[in-house]
Amino acid sequence: MAQRIGARQLVTLLDGWRAPDTQHSPAYRRLADRIKLLVLDGRLSVGAPLPAERELAARLETSRTTVTGAYNHLRDLGYVQRRQGSGSFTRLPHGGDAELPDRPSQIDFTSAATPASPGLHAATQQALDMFPEYLAGTGYDLRGIPELREAVAARYTDRGLPTAAGNIVVTVGAQHASGLLMRMFGGPGRHILVESPGFPQSFDAARMSGARLVTTPVSADGWDAEDLLRTIRTAKPALAYVMPDFHNPTGACMPADLRTAFTRAAADAGTIVIADETTAELAIDERQQFLPLAAYGPAILLGSVGKTMWGGLRVGWIRADSARVSQILQARPAADLGTPILEQLICTVLLRDYRPVLDDMRLRLRASRDLVVAELGRRFPSWTVPRVRGGHTVWARLDRPVSSQLAIRALENGLRIPPGPRFGLDGAFERFVRVPITFDTDTTLRALDLLETSWHQVLGSSAAPCRKVPDDESLVI
Ligand SMILES: Cc1ncc(COP(=O)(O)O)c(C=O)c1O
Repeated sequence: MAQRIGARQLVTLLDGWRAPDTQHSPAYRRLADRIKLLVLDGRLSVGAPLPAERELAARLETSRTTVTGAYNHLRDLGYVQRRQGSGSFTRLPHGGDAELPDRPSQIDFTSAATPASPGLHAATQQALDMFPEYLAGTGYDLRGIPELREAVAARYTDRGLPTAAGNIVVTVGAQHASGLLMRMFGGPGRHILVESPGFPQSFDAARMSGARLVTTPVSADGWDAEDLLRTIRTAKPALAYVMPDFHNPTGACMPADLRTAFTRAAADAGTIVIADETTAELAIDERQQFLPLAAYGPAILLGSVGKTMWGGLRVGWIRADSARVSQILQARPAADLGTPILEQLICTVLLRDYRPVLDDMRLRLRASRDLVVAELGRRFPSWTVPRVRGGHTVWARLDRPVSSQLAIRALENGLRIPPGPRFGLDGAFERFVRVPITFDTDTTLRALDLLETSWHQVLGSSAAPCRKVPDDESLVI
């Protein structure tokens, strides 16, 4: 059953909904636009019951007619379904195909991922040659095939963290790994520390474990070390989930002294550290900068080939000490029974000669980073655009808190782009937008054309910020 959203929580997510738009739409249309965006980007799950109109109107300090009008409009568009006697529920029009027929064709900037590594097809052919010898077995392998675990361990050793194959558990991508660990070590009555902004799916996984989330701020300039260490000491979370290289969405990279202080504070507080290193190999300007987090203190590491080889392989892993590996192997079968063998073989082939794979990916990211940073600077002179040194996204700061409006206009113009609040909890980050650096030049330029048009539409409707500025700066200093 989809998660119920309370009126108070929805009001937080709707912060700034009243701001006028270019079409000078009536209030009910602006409210409907914002709820639609929440459904489209996943912050409101499909099938979720919406708050009663009277209650939402009271919380929004608006008339009931406005809320009724918004719900009716959403129903006409197919985003809300009324069920007799039980209220209004979110839905997607056209049986879940969110692309409306009258919309221009869309560029999708919601996922920051590249097409496959050029060597992937040849590696698949080699993997097929290795495949027959596995067919005599059952194919169920909770740990992952030995060849891949050895190749992953060798890569950690190369990066300066000696590792044995026995420390590796192959998973179905890094997201599977983090969900598994959060279920194992989170849970009701516990706290999980996450970064804010952060990777939305990790928030969802942490919440699904039943744990409560506590946050620590990150900006393009990095972590607030004092806040991070204090939160660990005072909240004593069961788990701390961090992305030290390179943080999604800001691209920040954790300095060595903080790695040491953080892992030490976590060990003292009894907090298990999970470092999601999905993008750790995406150092754009220089090769490896820091050792993996577990070289500085106790940490479970997550890795993936999703951002270096291809997301479609769905292969990731956990690196942990042998006691944790045994716990993980006991917990895993409740949810899944292993990673597909052929995909593991493909990754093994590519990992054995990883340098060209990484070099190719870095070249692509560097070209796109340079283009995106230059174009954003030229087209949006009032924005602050950091020159990220790694990762797959640029976290640009707008000069006014209108990210949701921008995403709505962009969607109407044919560009799906997640608004800043998608990466925060409780509606923060209306002053930010995440731009991927994973697309080819032509697509990037077309997307930025659409973003620029959308920005001018937003500016035309709100020459002066017309609402309270959310207190998000305090989170991202
Ligand atoms: C930080 C982070 N973790 C995990 C993932 C998902 O990785 P995978 O495709 O291996 O599940 C992503 C994808 O963008 C990511 O950015």
